[in-house]
Amino acid sequence: MHRIAIFASGSGSNARNILQYFRNNPSYQISLIVTNRNTAGVIAHANEFEVPVVYAPASQFKDCPEHILSKLLEYRIDFIVLAGFLLKMPDLVVAAFKGRMVNIHPSLLPAFGGPGMYGDKVHEAVIESKSSESGITIHHVNEHYDEGEVIFQAKTPVFNSDNAVSLRVKVQQLEQKWFPVIIEQVLKKTFSKDADPDIH
Ligand code: GRF
Repeated sequence: MHRIAIFASGSGSNARNILQYFRNNPSYQISLIVTNRNTAGVIAHANEFEVPVVYAPASQFKDCPEHILSKLLEYRIDFIVLAGFLLKMPDLVVAAFKGRMVNIHPSLLPAFGGPGMYGDKVHEAVIESKSSESGITIHHVNEHYDEGEVIFQAKTPVFNSDNAVSLRVKVQQLEQKWFPVIIEQVLKKTFSKDADPDIH
């Protein structure tokens, strides 16, 4: 059984979908939710699925990353999913989970990524740029915001009639459809008996 932690800062619709998808899975268990906001919606989802929650404020991520890492070790976590996690993951944790941490971003990276690009800011920038398409990117996490190796992208057209809200809805549909499925594929690849630890 491989143990997965989800990090989330917000409403947690992706976290909830992942909790639902992996419920009763014999190989992979969502074993921990980590959040930096003690009012985050994700906490209610964790309670519903009876998954423990660790609350760690932003200051802890910045000043005491050892604490975050020790919690992950305490819960024997071997894979991390970032699902709407808005803080920069400390380098210490990135290094410890190299090749075993994925993130989802609500645009077609490298477009509309990087620091400050989150939530509706992404969709507003896409609308502003008059791009004809947007979508989701699921990628490995490295030391730089939104720059890890891309695993998967799915696209949706952007019409003249779209605004940030309608685009958000279309992107959320892609997230709900694809994120758990792609996580499962990455987990299978990562933890298959003959997986080469240097190839992700
Ligand atoms: C999603 O759009 C995701 O792509 C981005 O943050 C948002 C999180 O939404 N990284 P939710 O908290 O899962 O509802």
